[in-house]
Amino acid sequence: MKVVILKDAAAVAAYGAEIFVKQINKKNHSVLGLATGSTPVALYQELIAANKESKVSFSAVRSFNLDEYMGIEGDHPQSYRHFMNEELFNHVDIDKSNTQVPPGNAANPIEACEKYERDIVDMGGIDIQLLGIGRNAHIGFNEPSSSLASRTRVKTLTQATIDDNARFFGADEHQPHLSITMGIGTILESKKVVLLATGEGKAEAIQATVEGPLSAACPASALQMHRNAVLIIDEAAASKLVDKEFYKHIEVENQKLEEMLEL
Ligand code: GLP
Repeated sequence: MKVVILKDAAAVAAYGAEIFVKQINKKNHSVLGLATGSTPVALYQELIAANKESKVSFSAVRSFNLDEYMGIEGDHPQSYRHFMNEELFNHVDIDKSNTQVPPGNAANPIEACEKYERDIVDMGGIDIQLLGIGRNAHIGFNEPSSSLASRTRVKTLTQATIDDNARFFGADEHQPHLSITMGIGTILESKKVVLLATGEGKAEAIQATVEGPLSAACPASALQMHRNAVLIIDEAAASKLVDKEFYKHIEVENQKLEEMLEL
């Protein structure tokens, strides 16, 4: 996998957004895989700015979100559907009927998960999947021990994830302990994967993802098996990488190669 180490969170957002803008400008009806959490917010702001400046249009874009809490409606303020509307969809020229978030309120979640998988395939598959990462290296809500071949399904959240995400919920507010998430197998089928991580809190997860063994104990390590995955991380998230200088050197060489190919 490609590891791009940048100065800070702002640089990570700008670099990641540029990849999405290029992808959409190359294929205006791209199928985007989108993520929630605090990390992608700055990237979404970059995309909103690019849309306002007419550098990119989402009018033909389709999207699938990674995950959703179980048992809450899409208009619930803590739902990931609500998050996506607030952080991106309401501010760009996307047709919301072209955006999908797993239905956390489905009467039959098992059927809903199967349909989600079918819908992705019917759209031609995901062109580019955005990911954050949990402190325990979860991607989507694929917690440690998730099968590396898993598909969209109901997943129980670990106490660590519940605690990490408690900051978004009010003291008396019900916080779901179950989710619907794309599986690791689903994520691995997207044509390109862009994972963002910022801050020291993610350093251990990033080290295990890049340099640890391929293991269900570290869900993000499955990206070692993806042919087109890029990790865009800041210095703090890179701080525990043993071969950090080597990854930086590779990037310098990659840049030279790209410049040469553009000539
Ligand atoms: C949640 C989401 C993940 C996200 C993670 C990290 O658990 N399901 O998709 O990557 O949070 O969030 P943050 O970026 O806020 O650290």
